[in-house]
Amino acid sequence: MNIILLGPPGAGKGTQAQRLVERFGMKQLSTGDMLRAAVKAGTPVGLKAKAVMDAGELVSDEIVSALIGDELDAMPEGQGAIFDGYPRTAAQAASLDEILASRGKALDHVIELDVDEDALVERITGRFTCASCGKGYHDKFERPSVEGTCDKCGGHEFKRRPDDNEETVRTRMAEYRAKTAPILPIYEARGIVARVDGMADMDAVTASIEKVLQG
Ligand code: AP5
Ligand code: MG
Repeated sequence: MNIILLGPPGAGKGTQAQRLVERFGMKQLSTGDMLRAAVKAGTPVGLKAKAVMDAGELVSDEIVSALIGDELDAMPEGQGAIFDGYPRTAAQAASLDEILASRGKALDHVIELDVDEDALVERITGRFTCASCGKGYHDKFERPSVEGTCDKCGGHEFKRRPDDNEETVRTRMAEYRAKTAPILPIYEARGIVARVDGMADMDAVTASIEKVLQG
């Protein structure tokens, strides 16, 4: 099964993708994570992407679609993909159709996380992740059970994203409204969109998504 998690910054795409990976053995394909890895490694893609990401704007369609194609090619046959933060423009949606069709794959569901934008700034500015395994946390909504120790890998170092400040978040939201929200009708016309209440608590959101996946 291949699904898209669609929603504005802070909607919970990454949080829910990590849970689906654990429960169903799917693969999370987050273009944001791929780009951050490229920035960290100082690759040509990373060098191009850094300033754009720090400003909260969108990296070029060609770059992200190439990253997605490469990741899909590296996946074992039969493993399902969770597209997290991709596609984000009409051009990317068209590329994804081609990328999937050329590999004999199809999209099963587009899950739209329906959220209240005002709450998202608090979610994003409180977010941090484990520096070794990437598990996500939040100052208020999901702290490690033992303060300073990652629940998943026992690591003691945590990090925050440079684009998780209020000003950049506002730009990221404006980009979402202008370029990403308008792609929903493409999938609505195919009858594959399910809208999930992203303001519910994390477990309730996971349960709603599982219900959609289990048909
Ligand atoms: P990306 O990394 O994709 O960032 P984003 O879309 O802005 O989304 P976030 O990762 O901020 O939010 P999320 O929905 O994953 O929320 P999370 O689960 O962490 O992209 C970053 C940048 O890369 C872009 O700005 C762009 O420059 C570039 N880029 C990436 N993809 C691109 C593309 N396709 N094309 C062009 N450019 C691209 O949750 C947030 C917090 O809230 C967490 O702390 C979590 O614990 C908490 N939380 C989650 N769910 C709940 C809940 N139900 N209740 C309470 N708290 C919750
Ligand atoms: Mg994310």
